[in-house]
Amino acid sequence: MAERITIRKPDDWHLHVRDGAMLRAALPFTAANFGRAIIMPNLLPPVLTVKEAIAYRDRVVAALPEGSTFQPLMTCYLTDATDPDDVETGFREGVFTAVKMYPANATTNSAYGVTDFQRIRQVLARMEKIGMTFLIHGEEADPEIDVFDREAVFIERRLTPMLKDFPGLRIVLEHVSSREGVDFVRAHAPQLGGTITPYHLMLTRTDWLGYGNRPYMYCMPVIKRREDRDALRKAATQGESNFFLGTDSAPHPVTKKLATVGAAGLFNSPVAIESYAQVFAEENALDKLEAFASLNGPKHYRLPPNAESITLEKTVWTAPEEVKVNGPEERALIHRGGEQIQWKVVA
Ligand code: NCD
Ligand code: ZN
Repeated sequence: MAERITIRKPDDWHLHVRDGAMLRAALPFTAANFGRAIIMPNLLPPVLTVKEAIAYRDRVVAALPEGSTFQPLMTCYLTDATDPDDVETGFREGVFTAVKMYPANATTNSAYGVTDFQRIRQVLARMEKIGMTFLIHGEEADPEIDVFDREAVFIERRLTPMLKDFPGLRIVLEHVSSREGVDFVRAHAPQLGGTITPYHLMLTRTDWLGYGNRPYMYCMPVIKRREDRDALRKAATQGESNFFLGTDSAPHPVTKKLATVGAAGLFNSPVAIESYAQVFAEENALDKLEAFASLNGPKHYRLPPNAESITLEKTVWTAPEEVKVNGPEERALIHRGGEQIQWKVVA
């Protein structure tokens, strides 16, 4: 009999599903295996207000396969001008689950992000007061800072003072990518949690750049050294309660990925829970997968875990290479597409 594991249905605490044809192409992969997902607001234009979030939520729900019970959790894109009252209204009405902060120009569609950290203090104070979670793309986008040091410098310059100034504010450092990030999240539990992507658990920058330039390993924060990857694998698989699943699955049309200036982001939702299972199996920690994938996130967000469950089996299958987005001409390539995947969701 093949090896099997049954866990509570997981949630994805960091997901980009885009809009329009891309939304319809990407969302079914997440809805198949996950109960809920934090839907990132970096559309063009971004999701700034309660009204925009309601409209986007409706489009996400409309793109769900028939009979799906998947629940999108919406977020508010923070700018220098975000109104604390609008944030509070959205939270109280059950529209916004969290606020997401992108430093301006740190990543895909972050041009409207925060340029002046003094100007967001009122929003942070309000979120602290009402118990709303704050999600951070933790990278310092200053051109003086080396791209591999962006996370560590952000932690030192921005996150450390923020935790002190708003001790009651629940924060998630999204897609933790470095040893420094892991150590910092661990040291600031439970106020601070961290999501970890499947690709930061599997790849090193040598995989990305060492044998040809592989644009399908290019994402923000960039993939780092082996030591960073190993620190992330420890954090995820040891059962520490402040680290949890966030795929950062981020599809782009192939023309945007394979351009002279290529877009950051990996479309990994078609192989996400399977990739996490592989990492946990490699670390002899399959018994910790449920905590990471299905329990720690809800605990940080103060939500109940899902009631349903899923079963994974150790069965080899080949990941699809791409999805068609808009007829045959537009497509998005899948991270690990064409590769043999070790685990499969069977129920
Ligand atoms: C994300 C995207 O494409 O929206 N890209 C990425 O490289 N991760 C944005 C983000 O989360 O940084
Ligand atoms: Zn992201």
